[in-house]
Amino acid sequence: MSAPVLEIRDLTVTFTTPLGPLAAVRGIDLDVRAGEMLAVVGESGSGKSVSFLAAMGLLPKTATITGSVLLDGRQLVGASSKELRAVRGQLMSMIFQDPLSALNPVHRVGDQIAEMLQAHQKLSDKAAKARSVDLLEIVGIPQSGDRALQYPHEFSGGMRQRVVIAIAIANSPKVLIADEPTTALDVTVQAQILEVIQKVQKQFGTAVVLITHDLGVVARVCERVNVMYAGRVVERAEIGDIFDAPSHPYTRGLLASLPQAGVERLSPIAGFPPNMLRPPAGCAFRARCPHAVAECGETLPTLRQIGASHSACIRAEEVLTSS
Ligand SMILES: Nc1ncnc2c1ncn2[C@@H]1O[C@H](COP(=O)(O)OP(=O)(O)OP(=O)(O)O)[C@@H](O)[C@H]1O
Ligand SMILES: [Mg+2]
Repeated sequence: MSAPVLEIRDLTVTFTTPLGPLAAVRGIDLDVRAGEMLAVVGESGSGKSVSFLAAMGLLPKTATITGSVLLDGRQLVGASSKELRAVRGQLMSMIFQDPLSALNPVHRVGDQIAEMLQAHQKLSDKAAKARSVDLLEIVGIPQSGDRALQYPHEFSGGMRQRVVIAIAIANSPKVLIADEPTTALDVTVQAQILEVIQKVQKQFGTAVVLITHDLGVVARVCERVNVMYAGRVVERAEIGDIFDAPSHPYTRGLLASLPQAGVERLSPIAGFPPNMLRPPAGCAFRARCPHAVAECGETLPTLRQIGASHSACIRAEEVLTSS
């Protein structure tokens, strides 16, 4: 088992909003090990994106962040914008659902990759250009020499996402955060983009955090899973244990709502996630939980070891043995 390259401890993110403080992330611990493909799953609004945007220093000033995020030993919480700019793109990169918004429409794609290279490395224009073409080739863009001279609008959605990946990995970061990288793409293209991400992970030893709603995708490419609910990690396990023996009722609900084909978005579990302007005391899932008892409302449950997984359910033993 490799050592963690990214160590998140007791991370909280609270937004100041006109309606009051919104507790988006409420104390998560999460390790990303060198070279692994780690999944972060959970319903919309559970705090997946905000957790990693906080780590990247990409949240607006309305966000208050506490806790610790160590990247290769470097503390990112409270780091200056200069330090964070040096980290972004060099040690850790993030890609998003919509590749078009990540690209500059008026610059050739090759130049955009070269710019990322030269932001962090002393490279001649010629060397940066040559490396850009190599990178386009690595992410599976044919005729990469010619394609480097084109503009983002000349690429299809899937090809644009490949360009975005090329930019993200240009400086061989240790961690790549992929936030719903395939959600906006056609199903056939989704699989290709996942393959590219997997190739990068294996060929360069890049640790990948795959943020997704899609447990079908997770099953195909990830080794470990963190399940988030209402700003907390509620279950953490190896992929096989998540499917065979889910020990948190929320994880069970996610699995039960998994479509047969495994490629569509999950249909929601009955009920709604809590309003994070007023998070409930105790377990945030209890209003939707078939296993809830009065005690669930008393204290905020923390992760504890249950069999091979870690679960934040005080009734995990009963959950495991129930049908
Ligand atoms: N800039 C912001 N200002 C205020 N609240 C925000 C901001 N960004 C996110 N939030 C809130 O923080 C919570 C967590 O949001 P986040 O985007 O992390 O969810 P998510 O798990 O990534 O969901 P999705 O699957 O829809 O992407 C939500 O309640 C969201 O409304
Ligand atoms: Mg998100």
